[in-house]
Amino acid sequence: MSQAGKPTGLAGVIFGWIMQRSNRQMNRMIASELGLTGTERVLEIGSGTGDALAEISARVPAGSVLGIDHSTLMVKRARSRNRNRDNVTIQLADFALFSAQPESFDRILLSNVHQFWDEPVARFKQIAQLLAAGGILTVAIRIQDPQNRSYFSRIGYDQTRQQQLFEQLNQAGFNTLTRSYKTLAKMDVLLIQCSLDKSGNTNKQQAVFE
Ligand SMILES: C[S@@+](CC[C@H](N)C(=O)[O-])C[C@H]1O[C@@H](n2cnc3c(N)ncnc32)[C@H](O)[C@@H]1O
Repeated sequence: MSQAGKPTGLAGVIFGWIMQRSNRQMNRMIASELGLTGTERVLEIGSGTGDALAEISARVPAGSVLGIDHSTLMVKRARSRNRNRDNVTIQLADFALFSAQPESFDRILLSNVHQFWDEPVARFKQIAQLLAAGGILTVAIRIQDPQNRSYFSRIGYDQTRQQQLFEQLNQAGFNTLTRSYKTLAKMDVLLIQCSLDKSGNTNKQQAVFE
C-alpha cells in the first residue's frame, strides 16, 4: 500500500509532516461543517495525524471523539497531537476489522481515506450500521486539479471518480445526500453529507444530490 494509504517508516514520518501541512485548512473547514452542537459522539476513520480530531474535540466538550487508523506511526502522532484532550481516544485498527455497538456514533468522518479501500461499498455498509438514527456520514475528498501536479492533487478525484463515489454510497443505503464544493487556499474539496433512513421505510428514495 502507498504511504498515503498507510504511512510507515522514515518515509511515513516525512509523509505525515507534509500531509499535516497540506490538509490543515481542509480539516479545519470540515470540523466547522459537521453541524456539531457539543454533545455528539464522533468517529473519524483514517484519522492520520489527528488534526481533524483536535478541531472536532473543541466543538464537542460534552461529547466524545474516536479516531481510528491502521498506521502505527499515524496513531502515535495523533495521540501526541491530542494528548491534552480528555474527550479524544485514538485506536490502532483496520476499519475492516473494527467493531463497535450498532448506532454508536452521531457523526462519522472520512477525509481522503476511502479511496484506499478495496471494498468501499462493504465499508460504507459497515459505517451505516455504526451511525445512530439521525446521524450523518461526512465524506471529504480533494478534487483533482489538472494545473496542480503535486502528489496530493494527482490522487484527488476527477468527475468520474466523484460519480462512482455517489453510486457506492447509494448502494450502501445512504439515500439522502447533499454535496458542496469548498474552495480553500491551495485546493478544492468535495464535501458530501449523507444520512440513512432508519425508520424502517423500505421504499427508499433515490439519492438526492444538491
Ligand atoms: C491520506 S491520509 C488522510 C488522513 C486524514 N484523514 C487527513 O485528511 O488529514 C489516509 C489515512 O487513512 C488511514 N487508513 C487508510 N485505510 C484505512 C483503514 N482501512 N483503516 C484504518 N485507517 C486507514 C491511513 O493510515 C492514513 O493515515
